[in-house]
Amino acid sequence: MEKKINVAVIGATGAVGQVFMWMLADHPWFNVAYATASASRVGLTYSSTTHWILPLEMPSSIKDIEMKEFNFDSMKEAGVQIVFSALPANIAREAEPQLRAHGFYIFSNAAAMRYDSNVPILIPETNLEQLDLIRDQGYPNTGFCVTNANCVTTGLAMALAPLRKFKINTIHINSYQSVSGAGYPGLSSLDITDNCIPFINGEEAKIEKEIKKILSIDPEVYAFTVRVPVMFGHLETVWLECDEEVNEEDVIEAWKDFKVVTDLPSTPEQPVVYSSEQTFPQPKYAFWGNPRGMVVYTGRVKKKGNKIGFALMVNNIVKGAAGGSIQNAEAFVKEYGLLE
Ligand SMILES: NC(=O)c1ccc[n+]([C@@H]2O[C@H](COP(=O)([O-])OP(=O)(O)OC[C@H]3O[C@@H](n4cnc5c(N)ncnc54)[C@H](OP(=O)(O)O)[C@@H]3O)[C@@H](O)[C@H]2O)c1
Repeated sequence: MEKKINVAVIGATGAVGQVFMWMLADHPWFNVAYATASASRVGLTYSSTTHWILPLEMPSSIKDIEMKEFNFDSMKEAGVQIVFSALPANIAREAEPQLRAHGFYIFSNAAAMRYDSNVPILIPETNLEQLDLIRDQGYPNTGFCVTNANCVTTGLAMALAPLRKFKINTIHINSYQSVSGAGYPGLSSLDITDNCIPFINGEEAKIEKEIKKILSIDPEVYAFTVRVPVMFGHLETVWLECDEEVNEEDVIEAWKDFKVVTDLPSTPEQPVVYSSEQTFPQPKYAFWGNPRGMVVYTGRVKKKGNKIGFALMVNNIVKGAAGGSIQNAEAFVKEYGLLE
């Protein structure tokens, strides 16, 4: 495929925006034609104005990109079709409907439009059919918005998708969430160093709402979310109750059989990887895998009574955020033949 689609990254300097820029730097289908953040950065080069937090080098191809103002006409003039949004939800709430009305195809990390009935929360491996909701927004005559889930929910949805067949009726989930999940600069170091905080505003309600919408299931959900002093990667421990009888081997087998449904550049061949290693998984593996950060790792499977327990780890800013959005855009391009 020679032709590339011009894309914009809005909120390009933040934690999620940086992952967009890193993953799009040499993307086979997409070209970063426009990058924007808050107004004070206009005219500066990306490398000079970004406080780079990723544990990977900034690709040289994005260093000299000039930051632009957030302007619909300029984006159109730059040939932008797809907009990747890493805006805070309160800014996205205003900006994203306007972008859609201007005909852009938005792939957003913000929660602003996630719960609209005609806006999918898409994870291609689990609910690709929900991509068709873009037609209810008016596509192909207008733009549309596709969101990805909250980062914790993304990891949970990936691990649960192949287990849906056991008819999950109850989910107990505890999360141990990294500080990058709060964006940059995020929490004060005095609050989080050598400490854990058992409250993340709005997070538990998001998990409950989103897991039901994504997987089209209706279990009881009991969540606790905790911020821990880790840079990247959210660890989650889960107990499930199912209508069907399930054993440890059934769960491990279901993850092994969970193969890619569609061939996309940012989709790993094996999207959920299990290990029986006693101390697996851990946030320090957040950038493992190919593509890096896109695999959800599982372990510690155990059964007690009629409950199945396990642990999982998801890279919150890659699979749980920007990488998920890029994968969603790839799914759209492939399903709707944009590069043909
Ligand atoms: N971090 C995660 O793990 C994660 C996971 C899933 C979803 N999300 C969601 O993704 C979004 C971005 O999160 P983040 O963690 O990357 O946040 P962040 O680090 O605070 O970055 C926010 C970005 O938005 C820009 N911005 C802020 N106000 C703006 C305005 N008025 N106009 C234009 N640009 C503005 C910022 O630009 P300046 O730098 O110039 O201020 C920055 O580039 C949020 O909606 C968040 O809930 C985050």
